[in-house]
Amino acid sequence: MRVASPFFTFDQLHNFPVLTPPARLAVIGDPIAHSKSPQMHNPALMARGIEAQYVRVQVPVGHVREAFRLFADQGFLGVNITIPHKFEALDAVDVVDPLAARLGAVNTLAIREGRLYGYNTDGPGFLRSVREAFGTEVRDLRVLILGAGGGAGRAVAVQCVLAGCRHLLLANRTESKLAALLDELRSLTTEAVALETCSLDHGQLAARLVGVDLVVNATSVGMKDGDAPLLPAGALEDRHLVYDMVYRASGPTELIRQAAGVGARHADGMCLLLHQGAISFEHWFGGEAPLEAMRTGLMTTLAALA
Ligand SMILES: NC(=O)c1ccc[n+]([C@@H]2O[C@H](COP(=O)([O-])OP(=O)(O)OC[C@H]3O[C@@H](n4cnc5c(N)ncnc54)[C@H](OP(=O)(O)O)[C@@H]3O)[C@@H](O)[C@H]2O)c1
Repeated sequence: MRVASPFFTFDQLHNFPVLTPPARLAVIGDPIAHSKSPQMHNPALMARGIEAQYVRVQVPVGHVREAFRLFADQGFLGVNITIPHKFEALDAVDVVDPLAARLGAVNTLAIREGRLYGYNTDGPGFLRSVREAFGTEVRDLRVLILGAGGGAGRAVAVQCVLAGCRHLLLANRTESKLAALLDELRSLTTEAVALETCSLDHGQLAARLVGVDLVVNATSVGMKDGDAPLLPAGALEDRHLVYDMVYRASGPTELIRQAAGVGARHADGMCLLLHQGAISFEHWFGGEAPLEAMRTGLMTTLAALA
């Protein structure tokens, strides 16, 4: 019987217990107890008939390089990396995939013959999930990113430009963070891209939404009950596509509620979690990930928590 979601500390990595099936994949973060990644990767391993299991390991800041070496020594095949380690991981691998270098963060480690390969699946996962949720490509949309100055927002902005998006509007609470991002985005393409910024002021956002197709929330607003709405009431229309990177087991965010209220199509952070996880699985094992097994595992977990 496979344990649903075993949890280990960094100290246990030095002398990792023998599990059945053996632990060969992990997610690291600090904290990490909340992670739902095992509940999608363990069903995927079972669906593929791979005798291995995926565990959670809490790794403190400053210990990512050491943790990677310990994972390699214990025969692990791969690791997912989440907050706050995605930047530390970039410097802790032997080979950085070019996209991960562009996105400035590593969220997936593959260990092959003792060498550490770092990837970023958040950006490609975003593109896949937009395709699945809305049946369209990011390059055909005018995109507003709320929270473009944060790690996730920056990655989405870079991925949008790399994917051929030609209209990008960036908003961030701390507007000064957007200047460096604008320079970086301009350096990514020789095509003409309309790159603009705006504040999170409700009046400004309401006016700018007229020229937007896809709204992406990459801020952490919405994670807590009672967070103030990001968009003013009545600003969304049914033609908008709304993508909230936040996911909560306790029910939809205010932004998703606003979208549903006007009949706008919407997707939440569960889509990103699923698709970035599927791409990680493909880096580890090749072929197509068993997406439906992963989706069922996640949905079952979230339903049980609701
Ligand atoms: N679904 C997934 O798989 C997935 C993957 C990655 C991230 N996420 C979610 O994306 C969100 C951002 O993550 P991150 O890693 O980018 O975090 P981060 O680097 O800490 O960035 C946080 C962002 O939120 C903004 N923000 C925080 N509080 C705010 C407030 N009260 N009003 C307006 N803006 C506010 C910050 O603005 P300032 O720059 O002004 O501080 C910044 O833009 C989180 O909710 C995270 O859970 C989901």
